[in-house]
Amino acid sequence: MTGPTSSAAFEALLGRRGGDLLILVDERLRIVRAGPEAASLAERGEASLSGMSLIAAFGSASLDAVARQVASSGEATSGEADLGRLGARQFAVDAVPLGAGGLVMSLHDITALRRIERVRRDFVANISHELRTPLTSIKLLAETLSSGTVDDAPTMRDFAIQIERETDHLAQLVDELLDLSMIESGETKLALEALDPEEIVAGTAERIGPVAERSDVRVARLPRPTDDARALADPARLGQALLNLAHNAVKYSHGGGEVRLGWEVIADRVRFTVADDGIGVADAHQGRIFERFYKVDRSRARARDADGDAEPLSGSAGLGLAIVRHIAEAHRGAAGLHSEEGVGSTFWIEVPRAGA
Ligand SMILES: Nc1ncnc2c1ncn2[C@@H]1O[C@H](COP(=O)(O)OP(=O)(O)OP(=O)(O)O)[C@@H](O)[C@H]1O
Ligand SMILES: [Mg+2]
Repeated sequence: MTGPTSSAAFEALLGRRGGDLLILVDERLRIVRAGPEAASLAERGEASLSGMSLIAAFGSASLDAVARQVASSGEATSGEADLGRLGARQFAVDAVPLGAGGLVMSLHDITALRRIERVRRDFVANISHELRTPLTSIKLLAETLSSGTVDDAPTMRDFAIQIERETDHLAQLVDELLDLSMIESGETKLALEALDPEEIVAGTAERIGPVAERSDVRVARLPRPTDDARALADPARLGQALLNLAHNAVKYSHGGGEVRLGWEVIADRVRFTVADDGIGVADAHQGRIFERFYKVDRSRARARDADGDAEPLSGSAGLGLAIVRHIAEAHRGAAGLHSEEGVGSTFWIEVPRAGA
């Protein structure tokens, strides 16, 4: 009688790509068979794996430990193992003893899951930190006021102003977080329109004007390009992104500096630019500043805000650029920068050109 055998079934499972990895080992924990993906993880040919120990083949002590436990207990066991170059990939391992001695191990890739968990943990830790800083100040100021140790009106008023300022920080942080989560979850539907880039730039210049003035920074507009292109974008979102860039340009400028707003057409996109002659961003940080909560210099970002301006420019949570990038990507555009430390920066956001 012919028909499918269990070893044929095993071979079929072993050979398929994209599923869990299977490794068959004998009672001495030497590899009998391993599939192509296990082999590529070990950076060896499939045939050359047979007879090797798990440690020699995969360089993974954690994988070997799971196998040993099954061998000594005779019972099915689960665990986790780091595999691949520098243990860069994480696997959930299920190992089952076979009647004839030896065991079969099934490995499920959980690298992406672990990464998401790590990102979420960092995110919560960052938010807690950002919320705690202004809260601590507010609590201290309020405690001092309520203790009655300060009784002259000007000092009390000053404390109240500081509380107000820290509360603004908190409110802005919460707004940014909400924006970010809505854009990230794709809940914000973009209302795309064909927009005149010149009007968008004019609107940004107008909105940033008062903020720039308080910091003694001039706002200039680059000459209008001859192109009569239209940008296909959501005016509110694009405006928000440009305002974030303009805020940064002012915040990281020196007093007496200038911020220049403009646009140009690059292939089938419209690129909006915000340039400053401020502190610039060192190469080492350029790849990371669009990440959530990433700040080049925490102390400096805070010091500028707390230096006695009647109204702070921003809470400096390190979220502004993350929002810019998300808005760009929601438009199927992009965002980036050219910058030199100590010289200045040009940040840009690109959205599709209407009709392109
Ligand atoms: N124009 C700029 N010049 C120099 N550094 C900048 C500029 N724009 C951003 N950066 C750097 O990138 C970091 C991240 O910017 P981002 O806008 O995301 O956060 P933030 O301005 O610190 O806080 P937030 O925008 O949330 O209030 C800043 O902390 C700063 O170090
Ligand atoms: Mg910012």
